[in-house]
Amino acid sequence: MRVDVVILGAGAAGMMCAIEAGRRGRRVVLLDHAERVGKKILISGGGRCNFTNIHCRAENFLSENPHFAKSALARFTPTDIITMVEKHGIRYHEKTLGQLFCDHSSRDVITMLERECAEVGVRIITGARVTSVVRNERFRVETTETVFESEVVVVATGGLSIPKMGATDFGYRLANQFGLRIIECRPGLVPLIFSEEDREQWCDLAGVSAEVIANAGTQKRRGSFMEKMLVTHRGLSGPAILQASSYWQSGESIAVDLAPGVQALAPLFARNARRDVTTAALALRTVLPARMAERWVALHHPPDWTNSSLTAMEQKLHAWHLTPAGTEGYAKAEVTAGGVDTAELDARTMQSRKVPGLYFIGEVVDVTGWLGGYNFQWAWASGFSAGQAV
Ligand code: FDA
Repeated sequence: MRVDVVILGAGAAGMMCAIEAGRRGRRVVLLDHAERVGKKILISGGGRCNFTNIHCRAENFLSENPHFAKSALARFTPTDIITMVEKHGIRYHEKTLGQLFCDHSSRDVITMLERECAEVGVRIITGARVTSVVRNERFRVETTETVFESEVVVVATGGLSIPKMGATDFGYRLANQFGLRIIECRPGLVPLIFSEEDREQWCDLAGVSAEVIANAGTQKRRGSFMEKMLVTHRGLSGPAILQASSYWQSGESIAVDLAPGVQALAPLFARNARRDVTTAALALRTVLPARMAERWVALHHPPDWTNSSLTAMEQKLHAWHLTPAGTEGYAKAEVTAGGVDTAELDARTMQSRKVPGLYFIGEVVDVTGWLGGYNFQWAWASGFSAGQAV
């Protein structure tokens, strides 16, 4: 079957690309191996799809090239997706920090994308297993049922997170096949696992949470996030840790400020103040839950209670260094950091510089958003940009 554009992967990026290419009059086939489109959209945002963030900027993304996302993000902004959402009568609300969620269900977003695809004549084929993609004069995409020939192939097969939802390494393998470089992939927005020692000291507090600043990464790639941290049965989670995890790499430590902006041990410096474990724990209870305050003091109080030891203890409270043993992996990760090297792609169109007609969009590319609607905004923006060019 001859068409203009074959898009592999009917997730957020693939569908947006199909809509824009279809709107421009291109004959588009959108293939997915799953039996339904947009499965990740469905489970996103706890079933309410955090479909964008109104404060979205290139600074909210990780990539070897921090400037790469700018062009696409400027081409299709949060206002553009909000316009589409409103056109379809989908009600939404801002939850926190600019994060927009559907009032009703993520399914509304999928229905919107399906309707938009239908309006511009996109042909969606689900349950399609792609067996090979080769390029001679044109691309030849073979599935178990059909062979498609096209000038353009757009790879929108997403990242590796949540394999049980149908995530595959297909996009990376295809990039490899065509000689494109990959920035090593790792789970992002993922809970961290304690070292054995930390696990013994902390895991009985599973369920306790606190407002902290979590810092991770090296000078080149550094993330710092003030949000909630949650102790789990195996390590740490909560938005602050998930955000920091995208900046963390194996072997590195993270630093957690347990009392942001507060000199929590100040009461112990008052004249005639008692200096002991009980008083220190009481002081920390103004910033931390009681059990966490008590545990932290028990583990970190100085042998003497001199001014300099107390100052050191206060400093430690603001930079509690931990070296995680690892992450909960792709099974629990919201995204995949790394991916097709942006140096291989044109930032305006997402087309491969080496292979004309081959495009990569969405999560398969080495652009990873923060938690809070940024990853969908990247999917919409990169999909739209490619859709304008194909
Ligand atoms: P996506 O993964 O959505 O789509 C890829 C498609 O390709 C899938 O339909 C898949 O079936 C198909 N595919 C894969 N391999 C294939 C193959 N070999 N052949 C054919 N098809 C193939 N982000 C956000 O901004 N707000 C949020 O609320 C959330 N919430 C959230 C919750 C959870 C639990 C997860 C795991 C992730 C999120 N995210 C999120 C992240 C967001 O879901 C993600 O970044 C985007 O879905 C990426 O869109 P893509 O279209 O690139 O990939």
